[in-house]
Amino acid sequence: MNTNWTSQNIPDLNGKVIIVTGGNSGIGFETVKELATKGAKVISACRDTEKGKKAKAEILADNPEAKIEVIALDLMDLNSIRNFAETIKSKYKKIDVLLNNAGIMMTPYGLTKDGFESQMGTNHLGHFALTGLLLDLIKNTPNSRVVNISSSAHKMGKMNFSNLLFENRKGYSRIKAYARSKIANLLFTYELQKRFESINSSSIAVAAHPGISDTNLGRHFENIWFVKLMMPMHRRMVQSAAMGALPGLRASTDPNVIGGEYYGPGGKGERTGFPVLVESNPESHNMENARKLWEVSEDLTGVKFDI
Ligand SMILES: NC(=O)c1ccc[n+]([C@@H]2O[C@H](COP(=O)([O-])OP(=O)(O)OC[C@H]3O[C@@H](n4cnc5c(N)ncnc54)[C@H](OP(=O)(O)O)[C@@H]3O)[C@@H](O)[C@H]2O)c1
Repeated sequence: MNTNWTSQNIPDLNGKVIIVTGGNSGIGFETVKELATKGAKVISACRDTEKGKKAKAEILADNPEAKIEVIALDLMDLNSIRNFAETIKSKYKKIDVLLNNAGIMMTPYGLTKDGFESQMGTNHLGHFALTGLLLDLIKNTPNSRVVNISSSAHKMGKMNFSNLLFENRKGYSRIKAYARSKIANLLFTYELQKRFESINSSSIAVAAHPGISDTNLGRHFENIWFVKLMMPMHRRMVQSAAMGALPGLRASTDPNVIGGEYYGPGGKGERTGFPVLVESNPESHNMENARKLWEVSEDLTGVKFDI
């Protein structure tokens, strides 16, 4: 008997409303495709709606019944996040799953429109603000989920509240900023779950990571010499984006999932394989850091959570 969790395990999703950030590429694209196949109404939140529409057309070519709406969302711009949330609230009465998937990795130092270091700004602060702005709708939807996509890179992540955003490049390295943003995804997940529990909500917060998957995430560092050197080995280690999408799909749809869980590939080193329950590192469970990050994130984004 095959006990692996695959897309065939996704239950019927007719009537469900699911938001996927970064739905036009890589893991997000595969996720939108699978969710729509199971009947969900999927909102593909894309910073470039032309890319989003192209991706939607690709899915519709195989599955004309797919219910996908592309809506503009730039996580590097709080105004865009607010506009997106307003559009959702005006059009939808519920959100069954908010899947915070979009991300950038190892980009050169840069700032978001609001002046945040871009990896922390996109991967953590943007999704934090988005979740806060949609929280009422999420809380009012029974058994809804917020799913945050982290990474094994979280294990290298160090929180430093005296210089959280590598102000003026101080202490900046591409990997440090990425790893910090990915441990932040987990700290946010665990704090949000704690807060859902504190109000006896049926909503849950869950995390997942895709292992090492073949997507467009490496576009910012593929010209670095040692990356070029490692590329042939890397290609042998990666799994498809469709496989990489499974942990997030499981976290979003498996009825047995419990709040605060973390899913990732079950193979060696969690690099590849079918999705299983995995453990994030002890630092990601530092609830004092989780509380501090929450407070700083509210201050920076100006989004106060009603929870
Ligand atoms: N692939 C892996 O091996 C791996 C490993 C660990 C974790 N992850 C995580 O998996 C998630 C998905 O990444 P991926 O591998 O599928 O990479 P990808 O193919 O590059 O997709 C990333 C998506 O995020 C979107 N995005 C980036 N910046 C955005 C912004 N400011 N506003 C809105 N959307 C934005 C991208 O849009 P554009 O197409 O317009 O740029 C794209 O749709 C990320 O959170 C990443 O950290 C991936």
